[in-house]
Amino acid sequence: MAPKTKEKIRTTPANPKAVDEDVVLHETLRPRKLQEYVGQEKIKQNLHILIEAAKHRKEPIEHVLLSGSPGLGKTTLAHIISHEMGANIRTAAGPTLERAGDLAAILTNLEEGDVLFIDEIHRLNPAVEEILYPAMEEYALDLVIGKGPAARTLRIDIPKFTLIGATTKTSLLAAPLRDRFGATYHLNFYEIEDIRRILERSARILKVETHPSAIESISTRARRTPRIANRLLKRVRDYAQVKGNGTVTAPIAEEALNHLDVDVFGLDAVDRNILEVIMTKFQGGPVGLNTIAAATGEEMATIEEVYEPFLIQVGFLDRTPRGRVATKRAYDHLKIQHPKQSQQLL
Ligand SMILES: Nc1ncnc2c1ncn2[C@@H]1O[C@H](COP(=O)(O)OP(=O)(O)O)[C@@H](O)[C@H]1O
Ligand SMILES: [Mg+2]
Repeated sequence: MAPKTKEKIRTTPANPKAVDEDVVLHETLRPRKLQEYVGQEKIKQNLHILIEAAKHRKEPIEHVLLSGSPGLGKTTLAHIISHEMGANIRTAAGPTLERAGDLAAILTNLEEGDVLFIDEIHRLNPAVEEILYPAMEEYALDLVIGKGPAARTLRIDIPKFTLIGATTKTSLLAAPLRDRFGATYHLNFYEIEDIRRILERSARILKVETHPSAIESISTRARRTPRIANRLLKRVRDYAQVKGNGTVTAPIAEEALNHLDVDVFGLDAVDRNILEVIMTKFQGGPVGLNTIAAATGEEMATIEEVYEPFLIQVGFLDRTPRGRVATKRAYDHLKIQHPKQSQQLL
């Protein structure tokens, strides 16, 4: 199979990281308060207690780690936490903090009670991570002055702050870093009912008229992910404006979604390609992630962090110690005959 071009990868609906965001739309749809944040009830309850207790003690809240697949609401939650604390939020992305000095500069500029949000915290450079340890634990910065035998460390105090880290997978984080968070919350894929509520809320904000059956149809194809739900709604709205009278009806939604190559389970061309490669080139697996990456032309990290979690969640893929295995359910869905004809492997 020929490797896909970058453009092709970027425009698939399922990859929330790679598609260019409509920034304005994104910001208007983002909930500001904990109350507006749909679903994830347990996390909301725990966060509410964490926030109220800290406010009562007039202290910053403990450092919080948020993990979960792209588009599930980690960045949104970080902003909500700072908003509820009445704190300022500073944001940085793990890969962009290249040198220890980059982080040191941010830390020394914080004010008491500020929230520092580091996205993709599993992609921090180890030298930058070193700076973070004493900062998180003791609100201190250890600076090395000079070189060689004359070098000495200078410790300076920094304001008490809250670090909120976001990661697509906690297991990608170094253990010492993971241990320094006071609270860790894992965001799961949303219930369909929650996705429906998110779509209704977004349609209201965007002033799009939608039929309930259209919402229903979009919700089942949104990979139980709010960002994808909002993105599909936007595409369907465009379609309704061009092909219809602007109202999103079920037939319009179905037509638009088929046009986008999103199937009834929310799988897009890349998902299907991954499954088809495993089924047709590797007899259903087990097959290693790097082999799948080479055969599909997708990046390993993208498969592991974007596509695979959902394929496992819908029961199309199993992760075994020897590699990835396509399930019977996947064969049935893609209407492909299992080559081994052996039940025990399914
Ligand atoms: N619980 C939620 N309720 C309503 N909308 C949500 C929720 N979680 C996420 N969203 C929407 O999905 C979009 C993506 O969320 P985001 O926080 O950027 O995800 P992540 O940081 O995990 O990739 C947000 O702009 C927001 O509009
Ligand atoms: Mg984010």
